[in-house]
Amino acid sequence: MNHDDAIRDQFTRQAALFAAAPELHNDAIHRLMIDAAAPRASDRMLDVACGPGTVVAAFAPHVAQAIGVDATPAMLAQARSLTAERALANVEWQLSSAYALPFAPGHFDIVTNRFAFHHLEDIAAAFAEMLRVTAVGGRVVVCDGIASTEPAKAAAFNAMERWRDPSTVEFRQLAHLRALFARAELGALGETLFRVPYPAADLVAASFPADDDRDGLLAHIEASIADDALGMLTRREGGKVMVSYAGVVLWAERRA
Ligand SMILES: C[S@@+](CC[C@H](N)C(=O)[O-])C[C@H]1O[C@@H](n2cnc3c(N)ncnc32)[C@H](O)[C@@H]1O
Repeated sequence: MNHDDAIRDQFTRQAALFAAAPELHNDAIHRLMIDAAAPRASDRMLDVACGPGTVVAAFAPHVAQAIGVDATPAMLAQARSLTAERALANVEWQLSSAYALPFAPGHFDIVTNRFAFHHLEDIAAAFAEMLRVTAVGGRVVVCDGIASTEPAKAAAFNAMERWRDPSTVEFRQLAHLRALFARAELGALGETLFRVPYPAADLVAASFPADDDRDGLLAHIEASIADDALGMLTRREGGKVMVSYAGVVLWAERRA
């Protein structure tokens, strides 16, 4: 299976469960993106790899128009249901690759991408494409999970994530994501670090691991309570095994 097929396969199967995960779609986590982008009522906003569309829906009340694009039709079906459910009048959805956005240069005031860079083989190319469609004076915002700065933990975390979701390429380290923004046409870099706590059992139940071995995957995660081998602060809390994903929101204004 090539990478594009792996993406479509995973996210077709994950679509409904991913859309329903409260850990990933709540006001506090959406607020991180909105604060970074500082939307204005006249703005045109694009969310790349929009998945079930909750980021677009969160921006919709703050901007003139919000568009979500994604490569997986089943995710866009979730997004369209959300449009109807919330009676959103200023949103649109399009099937598109992150590497070839169907928009003119400088078309948007805000361009975002959340929780998708770890599924991309060429983040520099995807980031360049986000910048291409961002207007001068507009803001580009990238949010993703990050791997530990300890190489052994980063490797173990990525191995577990590729098992849990074979369409994962790599959760990069923070320095790698920051380096994308070191470009002459961008202004000062903004940065917010955050954690997403997740019950390990819920995470595994919503996953489609490479070998369908959910019990093995859960046991592997639980074993990291002893030594934090994955860098996810695996722990017992209120009778549940919990993990925490480390994440970052990075943003900058396009100056030229
Ligand atoms: C983990 S989901 C995140 C969805 C959404 N951004 C969110 O934060 O809720 C990753 C999404 O990236 C999309 N995706 C992966 N590779 C893509 C690509 N090359 N072009 C467009 N979408 C892509 C998948 O279809 C999936 O919907």
